[in-house]
Amino acid sequence: MPVDILQTHKLLASCEAELQTKYTVHKLHEATDKEAFLAGLGDLVRGIAGGQVPAALMDKLPKLEIIANFGVGYDSIDTAAAKARNIRVTNTPNVLNDAVAELTIGLMIALARRIPQAHQFVRDGNWPKGAFPLLTELNGKTVGILGLGRIGKEIAVRAQAMKMRVVYHGRRKQPDEPFVYYSDLAQMARDADWLVIIAPGGQGTEKIVSRRVLEALGPDGFLVNMARGSLVDEAAMVEMLKSRALGGAALDVFENEPQVPTALFGLDNVVLSPHQGSATNQTRNKMGALVVANLDAWFAGEPLISPVV
Ligand code: 8YV
Repeated sequence: MPVDILQTHKLLASCEAELQTKYTVHKLHEATDKEAFLAGLGDLVRGIAGGQVPAALMDKLPKLEIIANFGVGYDSIDTAAAKARNIRVTNTPNVLNDAVAELTIGLMIALARRIPQAHQFVRDGNWPKGAFPLLTELNGKTVGILGLGRIGKEIAVRAQAMKMRVVYHGRRKQPDEPFVYYSDLAQMARDADWLVIIAPGGQGTEKIVSRRVLEALGPDGFLVNMARGSLVDEAAMVEMLKSRALGGAALDVFENEPQVPTALFGLDNVVLSPHQGSATNQTRNKMGALVVANLDAWFAGEPLISPVV
């Protein structure tokens, strides 16, 4: 008998197809009455494919053994509750490092050179009326990376290829890394031209990019958020972008996404992206395969490939 698993949100078609060949899949996100749906399944479900798993959902699934998250960030899963209930949690690390790092550099260049605005300028027929303004470039500038993890290191490699100086802040100094370490985030923001956020969301990092940090980055500083909207004091950021107390921002993630503060739409010092870091067929296929591989390993009694709990 195939194992029953619960799917909590839409997944890549290839991933859903593979899950369906191996498991009995119950799609929570497609159920109109979720409570009734769960009440009928509670005693069957042994695995979850996907995120968005609070403790209350775990409580409705007494046979739950494993949550295989689609994504490297697992802040939408209550991992403390999972641990307390002896439920394992896996994520999809590494396979998305290059895709996220590529988009980071892309958004940085887009912001520095106002690529979306320049494109619109040409399309609107404005070029014959006058030149597009002179701007700034990446080379020779310092980029401070908040979170020098697996993705942060790939961003560092590419930033160096752009002839940037790399410094970083994180919970601890990494003695094997050649970059200058700042134990104080505001100090790093003061000394850097760019602040790139690529640290995990969730408990312990909420709004760590505070108004004070944004003020340290200042009117000539650029903010890039590739991680989670929760890491930034978004209200302060919007206000400072409007008043030019902050130079500019390239944002792939937002506090209440897909809702984006509308105040950002009219600003020419921002570049906005709809959470696209890992959004390529190549990478999402690998992420999906890792979700399935972790479930397969668990139900075959083999070691998990990428456990976090
Ligand atoms: C999302 C991400 O998971 O991996 C992460 O942490 O933020 C993304 O790759 C992706 O949007 C899947 O929904």
